[in-house]
Amino acid sequence: MIEQRAMHGRAAPASNRAGAARASIAAELVLSTVYMLIGALVLNFRSGKTAIHRDDSRDRRETLMAKNTLSVTDNRTGKQYEIPIEEGGAIRAAKLRDIKTGPEDFGLMSYDPAFTNTASCRSKVTFIDGEKGILRYRGYPIEELAEHSNYLEVAYLVVKGELPNEQHYRAWEENIKTHTMVHENLKNFMQGFRYDAHPMGMLVGTIGAMSTFYPDAKEIMSLESRRLQTRRLIGKLPTLAAWAYRHTRGLPYVYPDNDLSYAGNFLSMLFKMTELRYKPNPTLERALDILFILHADHEQNCSANAMRSVGSSQVDPYSAVAAATAALYGPLHGGANEAVIRMLTELGSVKAVPEFIKSVKAGERKMMGFGHRVYKSYDPRAKIVKRLAYEVFEITGRNPLIDIALELEKIGLEDEYFVSHRLYPNVDFYTGIIYQAMGFPMTMFPVLFAIPRTSGWMAQWAEMVRDPEQKIARPRQIYIGEKLRQWTPIEKRPAPTMREDAVSGQI
Ligand code: ACO
Repeated sequence: MIEQRAMHGRAAPASNRAGAARASIAAELVLSTVYMLIGALVLNFRSGKTAIHRDDSRDRRETLMAKNTLSVTDNRTGKQYEIPIEEGGAIRAAKLRDIKTGPEDFGLMSYDPAFTNTASCRSKVTFIDGEKGILRYRGYPIEELAEHSNYLEVAYLVVKGELPNEQHYRAWEENIKTHTMVHENLKNFMQGFRYDAHPMGMLVGTIGAMSTFYPDAKEIMSLESRRLQTRRLIGKLPTLAAWAYRHTRGLPYVYPDNDLSYAGNFLSMLFKMTELRYKPNPTLERALDILFILHADHEQNCSANAMRSVGSSQVDPYSAVAAATAALYGPLHGGANEAVIRMLTELGSVKAVPEFIKSVKAGERKMMGFGHRVYKSYDPRAKIVKRLAYEVFEITGRNPLIDIALELEKIGLEDEYFVSHRLYPNVDFYTGIIYQAMGFPMTMFPVLFAIPRTSGWMAQWAEMVRDPEQKIARPRQIYIGEKLRQWTPIEKRPAPTMREDAVSGQI
């Protein structure tokens, strides 16, 4: 019996136990209509690392260990299935559909709200090892890129897969700079926003509006078109972002200065006043450029997933980038550094830290800027940002919030709650402190994230468009609503038991 083998064999690794638990949830949902007494599916993982039963014959064990497959026994039917384990240690979820109780049965599904254990694509762009705190773009460690590259070079790497040589870098820079200007009608469009419009809301709307200016962007299968839209988007994002900021300040919009660097030009469009030519401070210019490098891509995060999902309908990339930017707007994604500043400001001094930590441990609060879905160790970007903060303070003066942040981090790294939950500072823990020291209002924080992430979104999108395995993204659901009901005329429906505005159960 496979059950006995599983019980007598070496204890399954944690990942297998988690996999079995997930399978049992899915199976339970199906079983409710079939056999009530049969337990969960028993999965017998025949990979090279998993032992079968110690008493099995050597030959059999060797045969099984050599196979990269997963054997599944459906205890409802007694049938056995063998599912290939593919590159990256994944099974095809569609293979589960073969597991059925009869011809009428839809077949098994996997249930994974929030995609916590579902790979939606095969990607070559970004590698993350959350356990070890490793982040690489196209194989290059983030630390080396932040030390030696500039953002435009990294954008080239992210989009095209290789670091450019000198000649290709110059051509790429020229191509991006050619596209820093935007149509005057877009400027008029932006001027239509209310004086206090959130710059991120303006950015979402304006990027979406750009699709109407470039109808050629619909040609998503054309390499030339994809190249052109990529240059346009990377080139124009700083212009739109800076104008959104100027709008909220009631200041005239500043046109791009292509003699400046990518980050320098952005600073000019943000902060230029009456001077004939804006001269960015080199330390702040470099700091911003490094922050752009750190934010260029982060594999299948919420906004990259939005980009791919919306793009899978074959809509133009401006519409898809608008959707990705909207995803980034949320406080659990690009808005977390704003939440960190609010938290630090509310604390006011290091004296308030112990009380605050108590409330976090009691589950009353979250320590913003701590924790990450993927990183279960120190976010490698956070280390770089922390160092960068001191360089920025040399120019701007020290942001006093850093002392509270340092105290929170110190306790967080030692305290049993944070250690056992594997909560470490993420990239957003220190970025807000830098942005605030540089004079950015909090509403601009997610905008500063969207500018460099555009290269990552375009790389993820192009990979999706070119991938023959990809189709329109369309998850399944497990329907838990009412069974068939008969419509009744309004006068025959039961008398209300509460006021209409109190009926909110489903909203
Ligand atoms: N402070 C205190 N406890 C936390 C925190 C935190 N910041 N983050 C997670 N936990 C706890 C949860 O309460 C939960 O505890 P429990 O198991 O005892 O119930 C456990 O850790 C797991 O947390 P989840 O929310 O399930 O983890 P998930 O992977 O879904 O969430 C997230 C990750 C959203 C980043 C979360 O850690 C969080 O909300 N952090 C604060 C917001 C933040 O900094 N977001 C920025 C992310 S980086 C980026 O998007 C650029």
